[in-house]
Amino acid sequence: MRTGKRPEDRADGRSGVKVKNTLRPRASLKLIFILSQIMRFFRYYKILKNESFLNISYINKILSMRVIVFATHKGGCGKTTLATCLAVAAQEAGESVAIFDLDPKSCAIRWGSKRKDRNLEVRRIAIARLSPALQAAAKRNVTLSIIDTPALESPAAVAAVTRADLTIVPVKPSALDIWAAVVTGRRMNVLGEKFVFLLNQCPKQRQSRRMRASIAELEAAGPLLVPQIGMSQRFLEAVAQGKGVTEIDPKGGTAQEMRSLWLAIKDWLLFTPARN
Ligand SMILES: Nc1ncnc2c1ncn2[C@@H]1O[C@H](COP(=O)(O)OP(=O)(O)OP(=O)(O)O)[C@@H](O)[C@H]1O
Ligand SMILES: [Mg+2]
Repeated sequence: MRTGKRPEDRADGRSGVKVKNTLRPRASLKLIFILSQIMRFFRYYKILKNESFLNISYINKILSMRVIVFATHKGGCGKTTLATCLAVAAQEAGESVAIFDLDPKSCAIRWGSKRKDRNLEVRRIAIARLSPALQAAAKRNVTLSIIDTPALESPAAVAAVTRADLTIVPVKPSALDIWAAVVTGRRMNVLGEKFVFLLNQCPKQRQSRRMRASIAELEAAGPLLVPQIGMSQRFLEAVAQGKGVTEIDPKGGTAQEMRSLWLAIKDWLLFTPARN
């Protein structure tokens, strides 16, 4: 009679295979994805609306259309570039996206007119029309509204951040940009608005002294999104064609960064109820 353990008695069910006790980052991303799909299911069928044993208003706020704004005091740090490329990445991930352009330069509008995508509306909007426009978008089942803004102290940008679920503050890893971003962070705190810094146009060498100093300085002033976005010609090519970086080079590193960025933002939003 055999007394030894059979292969199927082993913890991993296979003979001779070592069980790795590490949680791979992919697993947590999958979990977030599955949770968001479950929430979508409830949203579409509106089952929870009439249930009183759950906090329905909270759940509704989690499931409502999300509004994110790109805003900073400093110009040229990548608001429009990131807003348009993120919109495409989110759309590819299944969101119904609209972009609202509050910047008189209307660069997002130019991008939209090149793109000609009926499923990704890009609209120039006056401040006074922002709230009704967002409400109308939610009624059209838009799940993500992205607002591009001029410099933060403009009334348009302040109006946008006070309607956002999350404001993203892009920052280049240079001393001048970081000093300006710290001012933006302080202003956001005064306004009582949720924000995250996002390092953009980073050099390939992410462990450089400049990068480490930039990260430390930003983290002292507010939350910093991971990943950081690298400097890449792909952004210039994509925007010029009315596309996102995930479309012009889907397998490239820049596209992967943009997809990771959308997942990181989605993660933030998942645990932050919508304000409206
Ligand atoms: N990750 C990146 N890699 C390379 N170039 C980038 C990147 N992000 C932005 N750029 C470039 O930086 C410049 C400024 O970007 P963009 O116009 O998006 O900034 P902005 O914050 O919207 O500026 P403004 O305040 O004038 O509206 C553009 O030439 C853009 O192509
Ligand atoms: Mg811009």
